[in-house]
Amino acid sequence: MRIVNIVGARPNFVKIAPLIRAMARRPAFVPTLVHTGQHYDQAMSEQFFQDLEICPPDFNLEVGSGSHAVQTAQVMQRLDPILEGLRPDLLLVVGDVNSTLAAAITAVKRGIPVAHVEAGLRSFDRSMPEEINRIVTDAVADFLFVTEESGRANLMKEGVDPARIYFVGNVMIDALQSSRPRWESSPILHTLGVEPGSAYAVLTLHRPSNVDDAHTLANFLEAFEALARHIPIVFPVHPRVKQRLVRQGDGGKGIVYIDPLGYLDFVALVSRARLVLTDSGGLQEEATVLGIPCLTLRDTTERPVTVTHGTNRIIGSNPTRILDESLKTLQHPPRPNGAPPYWDGRAAERILEVLDAYRQAKVLTPA
Ligand code: UD1
Repeated sequence: MRIVNIVGARPNFVKIAPLIRAMARRPAFVPTLVHTGQHYDQAMSEQFFQDLEICPPDFNLEVGSGSHAVQTAQVMQRLDPILEGLRPDLLLVVGDVNSTLAAAITAVKRGIPVAHVEAGLRSFDRSMPEEINRIVTDAVADFLFVTEESGRANLMKEGVDPARIYFVGNVMIDALQSSRPRWESSPILHTLGVEPGSAYAVLTLHRPSNVDDAHTLANFLEAFEALARHIPIVFPVHPRVKQRLVRQGDGGKGIVYIDPLGYLDFVALVSRARLVLTDSGGLQEEATVLGIPCLTLRDTTERPVTVTHGTNRIIGSNPTRILDESLKTLQHPPRPNGAPPYWDGRAAERILEVLDAYRQAKVLTPA
């Protein structure tokens, strides 16, 4: 069974790693890896391939940055001839980035079945580009692999045939668990000069709604600087934010600004933090499994299980609230509730079992 796997942006690399490994273990599967080139900096791309031990991509579309329309269109234009040549039995996409949407549409227009890993998540906020990507990708996918119960419920409400929905767990947690010995031995705390056992918070911020407007970003920085009087904050800065910070000439008092970290260093940093502040989706999930208190700087989450089962709370963007909630959480950290159902490191295997059953039903043989 020939499967074309698509990755484009940082969180995609984490999700594809366990899937590629699971495919490599089954001789009946012939995986091809296509990198769209949406993320291209060494720190945003190549470092993740190294850290997650992913083989280099078979194709790199090198689309780079651009408006949503340009990025999406270029992935479609450059992927289409590759699909025409390979004629795969399935195209697999993960997550909710522009590359996910573009590849899914390209495949379905060629009559190639599409599998979407991390289907069904909904923030119900259509101003988020990812929400549009999720809705459209799910609408055209044939296999919808969901990470949590809400995913199944959302898809059912949208009228998706239940026979297409598979609750398999979370491949991001597969990656976290299988690389545990490697991130546990990361030297990042030493590199940053953090004394073992000392308290610090980790901050990530990159959503356009939080960082693109100068006034909104300044409000956040005000809250972080107030918090940094109580606990040092380590802030690995996404390139989208770096441009804005440089433009604002911000020095940031008490905040340790660092370049984006690779996967192993980043997980190591988070795993020993007292608190995580973030607007990322994946980090809400990782913090949940690591048992680190997480405050989400948004008004919604598409991952409600991280709140009901995990350590996550949704606190929005008001600076006073951010400071209050952070101090409260540091004083009274939430008790971890155990990992959500199926977040057990075996999600990729469950996905492969479903795809293998499909292969056998179609009597597909390896190329
Ligand atoms: C993208 C995803 C987002 C995901 C995030 C993870 C979409 C719509 N957004 O957001 O869902 O959470 O990745 O990081 O797909 N840039 C660089 N180097 C790079 C990549 C980007 O400098 O390697 C800069 C460019 O100026 C670019 C900007 O960052 O314009 C934003 O990159 P882009 O891929 O458009 O979106 P992200 O904000 O990274």
